[in-house]
Amino acid sequence: MSKKGKILVTGGTGYIGSHTTVELIEQGYEVVIIDNLSNSDAFIVDRIEQITDIRPKFYEFDLLDTDKLDNFFKENADLVGIIHFAAAKAVGESVEIPLHYYRNNLVPMINILEAMKKYKIENFVFSSSCTVYGQPDELPVTENAPVKPAESPYGYTKQVNENILNDTIKSGANIKGIALRYFNPIGAHHSGLIGELPKGVPNNLLPFITQTAYGLRKQLSVFGEDYNTPDGSCIRDYIHVVDLAKAHIVAIERLIDGKNKNSYEMFNIGTGNGFSVFEVIKSFEQSTGEKLNYKVVARRAGDIEQIWADTTIGNNELGWKATKTLDEMTLSAWKWEQNYRKDLN
Ligand code: UD1
Repeated sequence: MSKKGKILVTGGTGYIGSHTTVELIEQGYEVVIIDNLSNSDAFIVDRIEQITDIRPKFYEFDLLDTDKLDNFFKENADLVGIIHFAAAKAVGESVEIPLHYYRNNLVPMINILEAMKKYKIENFVFSSSCTVYGQPDELPVTENAPVKPAESPYGYTKQVNENILNDTIKSGANIKGIALRYFNPIGAHHSGLIGELPKGVPNNLLPFITQTAYGLRKQLSVFGEDYNTPDGSCIRDYIHVVDLAKAHIVAIERLIDGKNKNSYEMFNIGTGNGFSVFEVIKSFEQSTGEKLNYKVVARRAGDIEQIWADTTIGNNELGWKATKTLDEMTLSAWKWEQNYRKDLN
């Protein structure tokens, strides 16, 4: 066993999970991954090994399978903490198949918390989202802003999972939890070996941009330029996935070291800066030297106009701050896209 102990990363072959696994290993943790590969690929485990020289143990199964989960915990009862990423995350798809989202995103949370009680595992970090705020009344948005009625089943699962965690902790279970409310993670590891790898047509902005620049998509559609923002396009707080990954290390260590102020805490994880869709396109073009083919189309249903984080509480409490610029984010995403496609040929 490693000096710092063993951490379970669910969804560890996914986009944020793989980057977090790399950071954990580099900090001296032993990592075990559970993933059903529903939106990721097993080769990511090889890539993690290539980057870190250490191969995390990979268990391929679905967190809905309580028998397999129980066997896993029997084998790994010495875990010092769990970081729970595994979930489906396409907003539009969640409107079409809500029951899948509710079962797939809520039941695993319950299964894991029950196992934590049974196997006396104390420390839990949950992958939440700024989507819980809806369109905030005040910007930047702080952790104290009200949680608004969810715009989609996906968003609702994030709210409910926060409540499930909080209620379980309040009930006297010997569990401490932190929910990290991410803003918009983009970019990729500097090695170009891991990055965002959506299956099918990407829903999110950055993979759509890089796939368009690579020639896999004809044109990027910019969803609306008639918003009440300086250039008319939506504004988001884009954060480099490696900065985001590092926030998880700090959060789990806060719990392991007993530095948390409450048994349940939540923090915004963003940069504190908002950028419009046009600004992201400009950054991509400048940082990569590639010209992007795009056109403005109608608004996308369900999009909020603008959101960015107030990071004061997170920065002060966690002693963590995002460091990477938008150009570093867009350039690293491009490097990953090229590397990945090149390896396919
Ligand atoms: C959404 C969710 C977020 C979730 C994330 C995961 C909300 C408010 N946000 O983020 O919680 O974690 O998905 O997938 O529900 N855009 C284009 N053209 C495109 C794609 C996107 O113009 O082809 C624009 C969007 O209108 C938006 C911005 O780019 O303004 C970012 O979109 P996207 O990457 O899909 O993320 P969100 O919708 O912000």
